[in-house]
Amino acid sequence: MSWVCRLYRSSLGAKYVMASTGLLLFGFLIAHLLGNLQMFAGPDAVNSYAEKLRALGPLLWVARIGLLVIAGLHIATALRLAQRNDAARPVAYAKVAQRAVKPATKTMVLSGLVILAYVVYHLAHFTWGVVQADHASLTEKFADGHERHDVYSMVVLGFRTWWVSASYLVALVLLALHLCHGVTSVFQTFGLNHAKYACAIKMTGPAIATLIFLGYASIPVACWLGLIPLVEAR
Ligand code: HEM
Repeated sequence: MSWVCRLYRSSLGAKYVMASTGLLLFGFLIAHLLGNLQMFAGPDAVNSYAEKLRALGPLLWVARIGLLVIAGLHIATALRLAQRNDAARPVAYAKVAQRAVKPATKTMVLSGLVILAYVVYHLAHFTWGVVQADHASLTEKFADGHERHDVYSMVVLGFRTWWVSASYLVALVLLALHLCHGVTSVFQTFGLNHAKYACAIKMTGPAIATLIFLGYASIPVACWLGLIPLVEAR
């Protein structure tokens, strides 16, 4: 077995894999959020952004496959670590410790699996057009015959349905809960936990998670309230 496999199989290696893949997924979350916030700039901004992304062609597929591999590694390693923790404690504790355990720590695996289910649902909604298929097929036509996917109207119409917005908000709360603990753990894994900055590091997770939640949640909420309006004729 090569040293890479040995490192991956060790607890320390698994934690490094969790932290590095988590950081890369976090990078995607930030990039995706910045792209999505263009909803506030109107249809032209978000539709040309989506068109440019699709024009990347094979490069977009490389990025998608990369993202899939990273997410797969993150999930598989998390499940392996959880299994290992269980196996290390074959006999249930006679008395459950009364020490307060943070909800985010307890629900890391659970929130992660719900986020995975949410991403599949989200892809079915906006990428594959299975959920609300009539919205996904909307296009924007120009006088010169050019046609492009009307991502703006798809998103606005989608979030006007209360249960769609509600389901996104529930998933975003779980994502924030996951990030709360995940971001702080990354600091610990990479040894960035000097006592002098302990308090600041502890606050970084919740602060970043709140910003991510507010950024993403602002879109369904603004569509629902009509602050991001449907632009009928352009
Ligand atoms: C309100 C929040 C969100 C909005 C409005 C939104 C919007 C979109 C849209 C419009 C697309 C399709 C782009 C296209 O095919 O042209 C998309 C794709 C995607 N979204 Fe989101 N998204 C949101 C939240 C999230 C979150 C929280 C995650 C991850 C946890 C996520 C992960 C993805 C992924 C993985 C794709 C597929 C990217 C690709 O294959 O090109 N999204 N999103």
